[in-house]
Amino acid sequence: MKVLFATSEIAPWVKTGGLGDVAAALPAALGDAGQDIRVLVPAYPALRRAFPYAREIAALPSVAPALPPCRLLGVENDGLSFILIDCPPLYDRPGNPYLDAHGLDWEDNGVRFGLLSRVAALLGQAKTPLPWRADVVHGHDWQTALAAAFLRYEGGAASVVTIHNVAFQGCFPAELAVGLGLPPDAWRFDGVEYHGQLSFLKAGLQLADRISTVSPTYAREIQGEDFGYGLAPLLRHRAADLTGILNGIDTALWNPSRDPALKTNYGAARLGSKRANRRALQEELGLAVCEDRPVFAVISRLTHQKGLDLLLTLGAGITHLPAQLAILGTGEKELETGFRALAAEHPGQIAVTIGFDEALSHRIEAGADAFLMPSRFEPCGLNQMYSLAYGTPPIVRATGGLADTVVDVNPDTLAAGSANGFVFQEATPHALWLTLERTVATWRNRRTWHRLQQNGMRRDFSWTQAAKAYLRVYEQACSVRAT
Ligand code: ADP
Ligand code: GLC
Repeated sequence: MKVLFATSEIAPWVKTGGLGDVAAALPAALGDAGQDIRVLVPAYPALRRAFPYAREIAALPSVAPALPPCRLLGVENDGLSFILIDCPPLYDRPGNPYLDAHGLDWEDNGVRFGLLSRVAALLGQAKTPLPWRADVVHGHDWQTALAAAFLRYEGGAASVVTIHNVAFQGCFPAELAVGLGLPPDAWRFDGVEYHGQLSFLKAGLQLADRISTVSPTYAREIQGEDFGYGLAPLLRHRAADLTGILNGIDTALWNPSRDPALKTNYGAARLGSKRANRRALQEELGLAVCEDRPVFAVISRLTHQKGLDLLLTLGAGITHLPAQLAILGTGEKELETGFRALAAEHPGQIAVTIGFDEALSHRIEAGADAFLMPSRFEPCGLNQMYSLAYGTPPIVRATGGLADTVVDVNPDTLAAGSANGFVFQEATPHALWLTLERTVATWRNRRTWHRLQQNGMRRDFSWTQAAKAYLRVYEQACSVRAT
């Protein structure tokens, strides 16, 4: 099957979160499963730098009033074919793919990702400028969801939209619909219109042949008002076409026995070596080097979604558990400032690094004892899986992919060999506190802790199963399109 995988970010070059990781690993797994995959992504500066030898494979004129002309560049990397959309006025901007230097959305994001969606659809249509035409166009989140609308109105490949986060919906003024070349009859409640605006995500969810999201629990949650961010009725309406497929992780990159970022490599059979990483982490972050308390870790976007305000509320209490805390993240200013102040009040016990640092994130996964994700909602979550693979039991709230991957420790789950972490229900500081106390008590029982680590590390996180499930979704989408 020929699949166009359209994405607004791709690790390691352009990544703001899990979508970047998924966009790097899932196409590779689909390629390994014998599919003909091309990955379409804007030619951001980081990609131009990584692939200066990318060659022009097509030149596209302006195809709609708001869309400038662009070039398509082709490049092969590690067995994967990339198509980069070269359009310097839209994509030649430093830093984060969505935000300007002040942290605000680029004003023309509707045009920037409108072009990405438009080109994605084109590569699945008879008028494709390439000697290759997709059978399926697979978009991710609002940034590429509009491709499904073009394909629905103009014909072409089957379309699949994957929701990584339903809270981001890509809403723009109504005029943009005309600017992007959508037909006038697309402006309907069951088309691209959403509360008087053009919503890329709503359009995609309304018009795609199939929809998926990144965990079975989140697929259920978003059909309810608490998690659907206004789109629950539409998602209920499309429930028969919606599947939850749990993400995998890139087991070549996230493998403690081969990870080049670590002080010492280790595996389930050599867990003793994890201690050297713990010590190295404490030294690196300026934490007191001691063995009498666990090191809790957070690596995260610092946003309301991630529930880290609950942790901040516990404040100094964390050191009294007792435990140490290592945080790596960027995001909302109040959280950045709050955690910085907490670290300043507790030198040697709480370390906060504000920034995005891939290598440090690996060292934290290896060096920490337990990993914290008190998310209010979490479509899938990758860090809890990295943590399980690194023998660092996760402490999570029961939501989305966290509920699908972490099994709370209790006598039954221990006996069944499934216990691998700590799960709590309520998004309150109190519930988190009780779970942290329980974690410290369990950490002191070395045998139980070792079993948790072993159970987590044994699990298969590879993309193989997920790739098979996506193939089934592609086949369903193609058969819908054929009828
Ligand atoms: P989300 O996509 O909602 O941010 P995920 O858990 O799916 O959450 O993925 C987040 C990814 O981004 C993980 O690979 C995580 O390690 C990484 N990440 C988040 N913040 C940072 C940071 N400050 N430094 C390094 N990596 C980070
Ligand atoms: C989103 C979600 C996260 C998920 C990631 C990759 O950013 O917030 O939970 O793991 O996408 O699918």
